[in-house]
Amino acid sequence: MKTVRFAVLGTAKIATKVGRAIHQAEGAELAVIASRELGKAQAWLEEHHAQEAVAGYDVALQRSDVDAVYIPLPPSLHKEWTIKAAEAGKHVLCEKPTAMNAIEAREMLAACRSNGVQFLDGTMWPHTPRAAAMKKVIQEGRLGKLRRVVSAFSIQMSDTPEQHRYVPELGGGVLYDIGWYCIRAALWAFDAVPTHVYATATYHRGVDNNATALMWFSDNRMASFDCGYDLTRRKWMEVVGESGNLVCDDFLSPWDIEKQRFWTHDDEGVATVHDCQSVVQETCMVESLVRLIRSGNLCEFWPQRSLDNQRVVDALMKSARTGNREEVV
Ligand SMILES: NC(=O)c1ccc[n+]([C@@H]2O[C@H](COP(=O)([O-])OP(=O)(O)OC[C@H]3O[C@@H](n4cnc5c(N)ncnc54)[C@H](OP(=O)(O)O)[C@@H]3O)[C@@H](O)[C@H]2O)c1
Repeated sequence: MKTVRFAVLGTAKIATKVGRAIHQAEGAELAVIASRELGKAQAWLEEHHAQEAVAGYDVALQRSDVDAVYIPLPPSLHKEWTIKAAEAGKHVLCEKPTAMNAIEAREMLAACRSNGVQFLDGTMWPHTPRAAAMKKVIQEGRLGKLRRVVSAFSIQMSDTPEQHRYVPELGGGVLYDIGWYCIRAALWAFDAVPTHVYATATYHRGVDNNATALMWFSDNRMASFDCGYDLTRRKWMEVVGESGNLVCDDFLSPWDIEKQRFWTHDDEGVATVHDCQSVVQETCMVESLVRLIRSGNLCEFWPQRSLDNQRVVDALMKSARTGNREEVV
């Protein structure tokens, strides 16, 4: 099986973890680090042992020995570099949010499809054995008919000048950044897209920095979440059925890598702890992409889920601004 050779576009903080994962992943190789500045690329290479450092993202795309790119750039740059990568024939692992809006996301996915390259966004947790184990519990009907998904993701976000999350033009904002994962939890559990949403938010430096959201799905199902840059770290979800519930207090990433678990409770309050395999979720995600590439077939599931995630975040951001319940288009 061919080894998938990756180029990383940008010396982003998150590239540290994903660079390590590319090293660890079965079938992947860390070929090139590209930065706007050669010095930054060289320093990153030293630290993370890429094979080559280059100045300019374009340079990485032109290389015939690169099969896939990882794009951990601010959201405003995702569209440009995904389309350029697709046109250069490179598979794309692009960080979330997919884009600035669903119009951009559709263009990106169309470019990937027409150039025969796979697209995957950087949402890591759905690729883990724990996510598969939780899904199995749901699919086996052990919670009864699903009715609600409730989740929360909050952190204290540093407000430094270089922080793109507080710059509207770069795609800043808490709904884009971490509300994204809570939306994904609902899409994942229900395997459906909400028809309508409502959100309320507070703003800081022109971006939403705390939000509470409601999402209405067909068949009397609902999801809600809150996210914030001004609260203690939380990353939990609850999936609620008519006869049981599932709780994961760290679905985003395990608090303790050695203790990857979740709980179910039946209607009588009997709790079961489910212990799962200890894995590095970044590695799981990279290995998912490698498997997709090696299959030789384009998988539509992950690009569609990414687009749906973006459609919902768009509607929530609109609702937070208008104060109205908004349709997901
Ligand atoms: N999936 C996850 O778990 C996860 C976790 C964290 C972040 N993320 C996502 O990953 C992306 C990057 O986040 P991050 O916090 O790692 O970013 P970051 O540290 O701010 O890095 C972004 C990189 O983009 C490049 N860049 C190019 N143009 C830029 C500009 N105008 N302003 C700032 N940077 C620019 C820079 O690389 P060079 O200077 O080297 O070119 C910079 O190092 C975001 O989309 C974020 O939502 C995902």
